[in-house]
Amino acid sequence: MPQVFIKTYGCQMNERDSEQVAAMFLSAGYELADSPERADVVLINTCSVREKAELKALGKMGILCAQQAARPWVVFGFMGCMSQSKGKELFREVPRLDIVTGTRQYHNVFSLCHRLLLQRLAAASAEPRRRGAHICEVGEEAGFQNQIRDHLPTRGGCTAFVSIMQGCEMRCSYCIVPHTRGRECSRPAADILHEARELVANGVKEITLLGQIVNRYGKDEPIINGRGAFVRLLEQLHEIDGLLRIRFTSPHPIGFRQDLVQAYTYLPKLCSHIHFPMQSGSDRILQLMRRPYKNEKYLSLCEAMREARPDLAITTDIIVGFPGETDEDYLQTKAAVERIQFDNAFIFQYSPRRDTPAALMDDQICLRVKEERNHDLLETVNRIATARNQALVGTDQLILVEGPSKTNAQRMQGRSSQNKPIIIMKGAAAAGQLLPVRITECTGFTLYGEVQ
Ligand code: 5AD
Ligand code: SF4
Repeated sequence: MPQVFIKTYGCQMNERDSEQVAAMFLSAGYELADSPERADVVLINTCSVREKAELKALGKMGILCAQQAARPWVVFGFMGCMSQSKGKELFREVPRLDIVTGTRQYHNVFSLCHRLLLQRLAAASAEPRRRGAHICEVGEEAGFQNQIRDHLPTRGGCTAFVSIMQGCEMRCSYCIVPHTRGRECSRPAADILHEARELVANGVKEITLLGQIVNRYGKDEPIINGRGAFVRLLEQLHEIDGLLRIRFTSPHPIGFRQDLVQAYTYLPKLCSHIHFPMQSGSDRILQLMRRPYKNEKYLSLCEAMREARPDLAITTDIIVGFPGETDEDYLQTKAAVERIQFDNAFIFQYSPRRDTPAALMDDQICLRVKEERNHDLLETVNRIATARNQALVGTDQLILVEGPSKTNAQRMQGRSSQNKPIIIMKGAAAAGQLLPVRITECTGFTLYGEVQ
């Protein structure tokens, strides 16, 4: 039985894409290798969003190719965002690489790899291979969004990702994604609902809808009874019996309409958590970032959602050290963090990306200042996050049990509606169950509870 090994960097979209690729290999009789040394096909799904992520993937591929020198048939491939933006250039950086496939070619990865593996096994050379086959597929096929289909439930089988749209046309000045993921493109609602029903029939209880700007799903469709296509999709998913929870990631203030705020009042399956990237709390920086709205819009959307759903947990992404960011701009970001009281925030130091306008801006911020702001903001974020977690001690939360705890296999772990991981200290629990749990203890980011 041939084996495939897939390593994934980057966002949930990438995880979802890797699952689709894995499902295609499995249905053709391959096994998933737990270590790359045993694999016949080695794939890395790449992220381009920051330089570090690219360097990690390149370094990893270099090591894997060197380790496998004695197995000349092994097929090595890069998939995803870095493949899309660097294309053939990657063969220069890793000469032993065989295949490079872009973000609109995931459905072709299996056949490209399998064909090459069969050819190599037939040729049966024992010579080490210094150069790969150098096959590059980064184009776009018509109707590719309808190819986003077969799927493996993840994380213990009761939760799954469902891709509903791809691409981004916002052109934020720092971001490489419009180059790597292309134009916006939504899947037909009927396909999404069909996939969701199939997943639920296979034991999935919680679905996370994925898209670069998930709330711009079906943006060209009409508004009906005040509801846009995204909220209509949420309503339809809500009707699926056996589906207990719905999440989505990530939304954007542009196209975030009141109907989505209101959805938190009448769709109980919609979880009490939103990951809503803020990027900066300064209007001047938002403008330089080419984000066409004022920060007050972002803040008031957060507050309106909290009004609609008082226990809503809000997490965010923030970039520090964007070109031209002054102490004053940075302090506005910090003030916004204090005002919203985020449950958590991912803080990124600005990383210049090729072919993006911000990389060419004057007034790039030096590493020391980026690090100082990162460190300072992290302290604020952690203090607020810890306080919000502490406040949950003594409350009852419904948790979806996902499986054994990662740190202690004797214990089970689940997630609250607010997306907080909760370790079960007492009481019986099986994966896939939705159980009431009393929170008894909190150590920073980890919550502990007892089944009620
Ligand atoms: N530098 C630093 N962070 C970035 N992000 C996107 N592009 C960059 C960049 N060039 C961050 C944004 C985004 C998250 C996925 O990555 O905050 O929301
Ligand atoms: Fe990375 Fe962004 Fe692509 Fe996701 S969409 S894989 S974060 S570059």
